[in-house]
Amino acid sequence: MILVTGATGRVGRQAVTQLHAAGEDERALVRDPSRVSDLPEGVQLVRGDLADPTSLTGVFEGVEGVFLIWPLPTADSAPGVVAAASRARRLVYLSAHGAGEDTDHADGILGFHTTLEKLVRASGAQWTLLRAGGFAANTLHWVDEIRNGDTVHAPYALAGRSLVHEADVAAVGVRALTHPGHAGAVYHVTGPKP
Ligand SMILES: NC(=O)c1ccc[n+]([C@@H]2O[C@H](COP(=O)([O-])OP(=O)(O)OC[C@H]3O[C@@H](n4cnc5c(N)ncnc54)[C@H](OP(=O)(O)O)[C@@H]3O)[C@@H](O)[C@H]2O)c1
Repeated sequence: MILVTGATGRVGRQAVTQLHAAGEDERALVRDPSRVSDLPEGVQLVRGDLADPTSLTGVFEGVEGVFLIWPLPTADSAPGVVAAASRARRLVYLSAHGAGEDTDHADGILGFHTTLEKLVRASGAQWTLLRAGGFAANTLHWVDEIRNGDTVHAPYALAGRSLVHEADVAAVGVRALTHPGHAGAVYHVTGPKP
């Protein structure tokens, strides 16, 4: 049994779909099962709120592997969530490029990812970290500008970035959860050379 958090999100729904196609038993953690209609049929939905570890009682029962996707802007509830999730043998955490123990980020996105990484490394589970670069779907933020003109406004216009498709990020996590040989690995997941 593999449990996916953030299961209705951009990477999460790709992971749920890929695990389903591979015939894996899986559980999708969602805040409100009654609002979920577009995940593959047969996927077990369990209610839980990552901001409230007390809501996760029983959620990780019988779970072998967890794909931990963290949608919250802080790590406040992370100690309780990681403690519960680490009952599983394998734990894959979706982190971000630039996070890590060797960096000194106290705040913001890299701050909470660095805190989560430390908790996951200390969890006792066989962990794998995915430090993903920018998602391809981020470009959907440009939709209105493209519809209404021919210029996209963004800082650092000359910078190149190797965006990665969410399905590819999910595929790396699914592989690490379903095959041996990825314990203790830190993978930098990028798209093609810009
Ligand atoms: N965007 C990037 O370029 C990028 C790059 C590297 C890493 N990342 C990381 O990837 C992760 C996912 O980010 P995202 O923006 O792609 O997420 P997202 O698609 O917006 O998905 C968020 C998911 O989390 C769920 N969720 C929200 N609050 C929750 C809560 N309190 N308890 C349980 N589930 C909750 C949502 O479900 P419901 O609303 O249906 O309940 C939804 O399934 C983040 O940690 C982000 O930092 C992003």
